[in-house]
Amino acid sequence: MSNVVVIGAGYVGLVTAAFLAELGHCVTCVERHEGRLETLKSGGIPIHEPGLQPIVEKAVADGLLAFSDDMDAVYGADVVYLAVGTPPREDGSTDLSQIDDAAAQVAARIAPTGVVVIKSTVPVGTGDRVQAVLEAANPNEPTAAVVSNPEFLREGTAVYDARFPDRVVIGANEPWAGDIVEALYAGLRTRVVRTTRRSSELIKYTANAFLATRISFANTIAQLCDTKGAVVDDVMLGAGLDKRVGTSFFVPGLGFGGSCFPKDVASLIHEGRESGIGMDLLESVVSVNDQLPRAFVRRMEEELGSLRGRTIGVLGLAFKGDTDDVRESRALLLIEALVARGATVRAYDPEATKNARRELDGIDVTFCRSALSAATDADAVVVATDWQDFARIDPHRLASRMRGDIVFDGRNLLDADALASAGLDYVGVGRPTVRTDATFRRVA
Ligand code: UGA
Repeated sequence: MSNVVVIGAGYVGLVTAAFLAELGHCVTCVERHEGRLETLKSGGIPIHEPGLQPIVEKAVADGLLAFSDDMDAVYGADVVYLAVGTPPREDGSTDLSQIDDAAAQVAARIAPTGVVVIKSTVPVGTGDRVQAVLEAANPNEPTAAVVSNPEFLREGTAVYDARFPDRVVIGANEPWAGDIVEALYAGLRTRVVRTTRRSSELIKYTANAFLATRISFANTIAQLCDTKGAVVDDVMLGAGLDKRVGTSFFVPGLGFGGSCFPKDVASLIHEGRESGIGMDLLESVVSVNDQLPRAFVRRMEEELGSLRGRTIGVLGLAFKGDTDDVRESRALLLIEALVARGATVRAYDPEATKNARRELDGIDVTFCRSALSAATDADAVVVATDWQDFARIDPHRLASRMRGDIVFDGRNLLDADALASAGLDYVGVGRPTVRTDATFRRVA
């Protein structure tokens, strides 16, 4: 059992802290945001992450997890994780001020035998920068070592991903420090990739940029499917079953959002440009992604004509299902585009309404308490986030609430035939549009 301090109780820090406690380590999670700390200390969880609450509760009850705002917890720690925010700047570069700040405070307190693990996603070379801070604070003495150990958790399935990772990546320039970090994960049955610190930092960006590329690729193929009369689900399955291609992260729709893919791809483009490398491939990934919400609105206009004065029920606000996170959410971009065209938007999300309300401040949106309420009197309903709940909505009840009879599926989540049985037309992405008799009556 090791004494671990995790700095930062955001998505990454909180899941890391809870999971290390579950592995039997004694963890203090240091958080300086007062409101978030209060929530955690009073037994709450400041984020929506399925399955996290019971792990935190048990760890706290077992005396293996505590929350604090006191950096002095670093005294006596074997390992200190940095899991602070690394937000993007306008030019795509990464703001490392929270890393620098935490590093300075850790440097003043950590033992020379300690290890500082960088969990935050940071540009290549940041480990060297933190190592230099440690060395500058303790000149002419042995110093703690910095190790890169990127996280690959997905919001919404973070607990599963932490327990059953595809791999653990440990980038250490000093083998002893890498050994200490590897020992922390001894309870996991997974492949451990040991490498240099810089390689490890780049692994994280490589994984996210490749997944983002797959999504933009799937969206490009979906556009071709629309024009050529092919079915994107079958095309991606047929191609993906080739083991070299793979089937996951191939679902087209409104594109990728969230706090990771857009930021990490932008950062990699920025780093590449700084190094004089042509980053055209990733620039295209971003431009394909950026066009999707507007293209989807144009598709709606093809069906509905002008959106001015139309009521649109939008299902989903979060950047993906099973989270309350709306950062870079395509759903919000879609809503902004609809409102800009004069549509009246009624929106619903199972968890993200509070965050969306803040983000859409000043934009005229009615936030509803249920999917059926958002659909009430709507000329059309749009699925903007892949919440599985939306796939379970009874199409007959949906149809009975709506004024119009068309559903736009921006996540290819719904069953077109089931909707058709309730007289609803279906427009997906790269899928054949399904029109019902009701439509023909409506058009006539
Ligand atoms: C992503 C990675 O999947 C994690 O491995 C990584 O640890 C994390 O970023 C991070 O860097 O912290 P996350 O942002 O939580 O995780 O969400 P994803 O499940 O990857 O989805 C990202 C976006 O892509 C969402 O907007 C989602 O709707 C979209 N997406 C995903 C698609 O449009 N199509 C797909 O097939 C898959």
